Amino acid sequence: MELGHPGLVQKLVARLEREGPLSFAAFMEAALYDPDFGYYMTAGPRIGREGDYYTSLDVHPIFAELVGRQVAQAAEAIAPSGEFTIVEMGAGKGLLAKHLLTAYRRDNPDFLARLRYLLVERSPVMVETQKQRLRELRDAGLSVAWVPDLDAIPADSITGVFLSNELVDAFPVHRVVKRPLGLREIFVGWDGSRFVEIEAPPCSSALEAYFARLGISLEAGQEAEVNLAALEWMRLVGARLRRGLVVTIDYGHAAVDLLAPARKTGTLLGYYRHTVSDSPYLRVGQQDLTAHVDFTSLALAGQDVGLEVTGFTNQLHFLIGLGIESAFAGLDPESPQVAAMRELLRPDGMGTTYKVLVQHKGMLAPQLDGLRSRPYFKDALMRLPSPHDPLHSGEQRVPREGQGEGHNAQNPHPNPLPDRERENISVVP
Ligand SMILES: C[S@@+](CC[C@H](N)C(=O)[O-])C[C@H]1O[C@@H](n2cnc3c(N)ncnc32)[C@H](O)[C@@H]1O
Repeated sequence: MELGHPGLVQKLVARLEREGPLSFAAFMEAALYDPDFGYYMTAGPRIGREGDYYTSLDVHPIFAELVGRQVAQAAEAIAPSGEFTIVEMGAGKGLLAKHLLTAYRRDNPDFLARLRYLLVERSPVMVETQKQRLRELRDAGLSVAWVPDLDAIPADSITGVFLSNELVDAFPVHRVVKRPLGLREIFVGWDGSRFVEIEAPPCSSALEAYFARLGISLEAGQEAEVNLAALEWMRLVGARLRRGLVVTIDYGHAAVDLLAPARKTGTLLGYYRHTVSDSPYLRVGQQDLTAHVDFTSLALAGQDVGLEVTGFTNQLHFLIGLGIESAFAGLDPESPQVAAMRELLRPDGMGTTYKVLVQHKGMLAPQLDGLRSRPYFKDALMRLPSPHDPLHSGEQRVPREGQGEGHNAQNPHPNPLPDRERENISVVP
C-alpha cells in the first residue's frame, strides 16, 4: 500500500534525516497541514460523498438550522441589540454558514441585519470552497468575512458566539504510552523504507501536566492522545471573547471516559474514502487523521481564561431540545428526510458520540434550549475514575476506535446513506 503523497513523503524523510525523530504531533501537523502537500491544504473533495468522511453538515441542513436557532436564542441574552458576531472556526465546505444564514434570511431577518459572520480557516483551499458556497449570500449584502487565524481577531473584541463543528478533532495530537519507567511519548522516525514509531521521554513537561491536572493516570501499556493544540486554541478563543458563548461540537468524551483503561489503544484514526484505517503511516497526506476530543481538558483550559461551563450534552439531546422532532412532523417515516434526521440522532452513532460543550464569558449562564435535557451537564466533565464504572473496572475492553463494523459508537463518522436516499434529501420545509 502507498506510503502517501510522494512530495510529502520525500519532504518528511528529508526532515527526519536532518532533524531526527519528530513528535507524532509534528508528523500529524505535516500530514494534514503541510502548506504544499497536507491533506487539508491540497485540492480534493475531502468531506462528503466524493470525499473521505461525512460530518453532520452533510447529513441534513436541519443540523445547521438548529444550531442557528440556538445562537439566535442566546443572542437575546448576550446582546439583544447592536452588532452581534458569529465566529465559525474550521468551516470546511461552508455548509454550516450557508444553511444557518439561509434560515436566518427566511425566518429571522431582524437578527441577520445586525449579524457579522466571520470565518477562521487555515486551509486556503477550504477558504476558496467556502467563498464559492457563500457567494450568493454575500452578493445579497450579508456581512461575511474571512481571517486565517485567531491572531487576526483583537483581544476582548467579540460580542457573540464562537462556533465550531469537528474542528478540535482535526488538531494534531501528541501520543503517549505508559511504561514501567513512566510516561513515554511516541515519536516518528524513518527506517529507510517506512515510517516507524520510537518511544522516548516526553518532548514537553506539558504532557505530564495534562494528566496531573485531570487527576488521571494511564494504566501500564495504555496509549492515549494529548491534544495540546486544543488547550492553546481554547485560551486564544477565551481571550478574544468579551461577552458571549463558545459552542464546540465534536466527537469525544469526558476525560474519565476517554482515558479509561478499557480504551487501551487511544482513539487515533485515519479516514480514506469512507473506510477507517488505524495506520497513520499509510497514505500520508491523502487520508484524514483525527482523534476524539477530551472535553474535560477543554473546559479546564477555558476556566483559565474566564470561560465557565454553561452545559455539556450530546448531539441527540441538543437537537431534541432545539425541536428537531417538529421537523419530522407530518413527514413519511420512510422518507429520506426522516432517515437523515434519524442519522443525526442515532443513539449508537452520531447522537451520542458527538458532544456539545457550551461555555460562557462576561455574562451569567443563559437558559438554552439545546441544554434543556442534560444527560451529562458539568459534573460529568469533572468526574474522576471510579472502580464501579465498567470502563475502569477492567471488566470491559473498548476496541480500538473504528474497529467495530461500520456505523458504531467507536467510529464517529456515519457510513454514507445509500446514494438513492442521499440524492433525494432536500431542506426540510
Ligand atoms: C474535520 S474538518 C470539519 C469541517 C466542517 N466544520 C464540518 O463539520 O463539515 C476540519 C476543518 O478545520 C480546519 N482547521 C483545522 N485547524 C484549523 C485551525 N487551527 N484554524 C482554522 N481552521 C482549522 C480544516 O482546514 C478543516 O476545514
